[in-house]
Amino acid sequence: MRIAIIGGGYVGLVSGACFAEFGVSVAVVEADAAKRQMLLGGQIPIYEPGLDRLVADNVAAGRLTFPAALEEGIHDAEAVFIAVGTPTRRGDGHADLTYVFAAVEQVLRALDHPVVIVTKSTVPVGTGRKILELARELRPDLAVDVASNPEFLREGSAIGDFMRPDRVVVGAESERAREVLRQLYRPLNLIETPIVFTGLESAELIKYAANGFLAMKITFINEMADLCEKVGADVNDIAKGIGLDGRIGRKFLHAGPGFGGSCFPKDTLALMRIAEEAGAPSRLIQSVVAVNDARKEAMAARVVAACGGDVTGKTIAVLGLAFKPETDDMREAPSLPLVRGLISRGARVQAFDPEAMTQARPLLPESVVLAADTAEALTGADALVLVTEWNEFRALAPAKLKELMRGNAVIDLRNVFDPKAMREAGFIYSGIGRAA
Ligand code: UGA
Repeated sequence: MRIAIIGGGYVGLVSGACFAEFGVSVAVVEADAAKRQMLLGGQIPIYEPGLDRLVADNVAAGRLTFPAALEEGIHDAEAVFIAVGTPTRRGDGHADLTYVFAAVEQVLRALDHPVVIVTKSTVPVGTGRKILELARELRPDLAVDVASNPEFLREGSAIGDFMRPDRVVVGAESERAREVLRQLYRPLNLIETPIVFTGLESAELIKYAANGFLAMKITFINEMADLCEKVGADVNDIAKGIGLDGRIGRKFLHAGPGFGGSCFPKDTLALMRIAEEAGAPSRLIQSVVAVNDARKEAMAARVVAACGGDVTGKTIAVLGLAFKPETDDMREAPSLPLVRGLISRGARVQAFDPEAMTQARPLLPESVVLAADTAEALTGADALVLVTEWNEFRALAPAKLKELMRGNAVIDLRNVFDPKAMREAGFIYSGIGRAA
């Protein structure tokens, strides 16, 4: 089987490499020439564990190609996946579909045979049907089918998520579209992955509903964390105690500085707009968006309070900048409002992240010192703020902190340190939702 994927960004590249690994011939069409050159040279423009090898292996095996021209990529493809970006549109929070429709139009005009056009990008409900209408209008001569196949992979564990998903969702209007996708995902039959077949609109909404629900789960536990601090409870115990109820589930109940990344903030905002426009506004999702935004903004004040109410002239070590570990992605990272807030309150910030330093630099105030490593960030610091739970930070021993730091404040926004060990070592420790 042969497929084309339009867009060699995060989703396109991971899906392309994984489908190729399944034995499919995949052409990933990337419009950015510089990016294509990188990919051809075996360089991956993003940090994702295992992706460089998977791409290199499949390029070497001849199953994964990066053609310069779209025509070349699609000319013998049975399915064409649209995996271009859908950023938040400026001003109104809607998903910007400019890239999606530009890609679809280009594909439709270049087609010389019937294909199934599959959206992998997260697109608002109704987009698949619009693509179908566009296909009828532009190519009445061809039997073009449309399917929606949303992606649920997480950055940092994208390959595992793609290869061993909890489920695959396929929204399709025709048996042929269903059959092509069934064939593509056939290797997952071996691990008995359920494939949920739905209509186009349902598949499109499933993606937003899944992200909305997970964002809501995180926001819920974050609010419980605030409550825990007031009443002397421990949010980790709450998460465990409720999460063991199979109806709730233990995952996505880690309290923290608020969710970030390229998906939850964008998709909750888009879902809010979709629901409002459809005349069925979601007050829950509206709250999730507002509560999470406020939470990220409030983190700087939390650090200031933990430092005794004033950080003027103090040196603060910020460990972790990326929105989560195992990625270099800085989009909507909680570290950004935090660092800006500390700087504007007169602090000196020494920051380090194992992967995101280059991405972080232009987004941070110039006065932020980007340290060469963890030890340098900690040297002479009055306080340590742990923002992203990279393994190397988890492993930091209190004795090591004592040796490097000048002060004794530890603000652990991910609850990775042992409060008892920290306090025994003489630190003033504060976590999230853990009573002092
Ligand atoms: C998320 C979803 O988990 C994926 O299923 C989905 O495919 C993806 O969005 C997408 O729509 O493309 P991702 O943004 O890569 O994946 O990362 P997550 O691991 O979900 O984390 C998102 C944010 O939530 C991070 O800021 C993380 O720190 C935060 N989080 C997550 C918590 O604060 N607590 C948790 O318990 C879990």
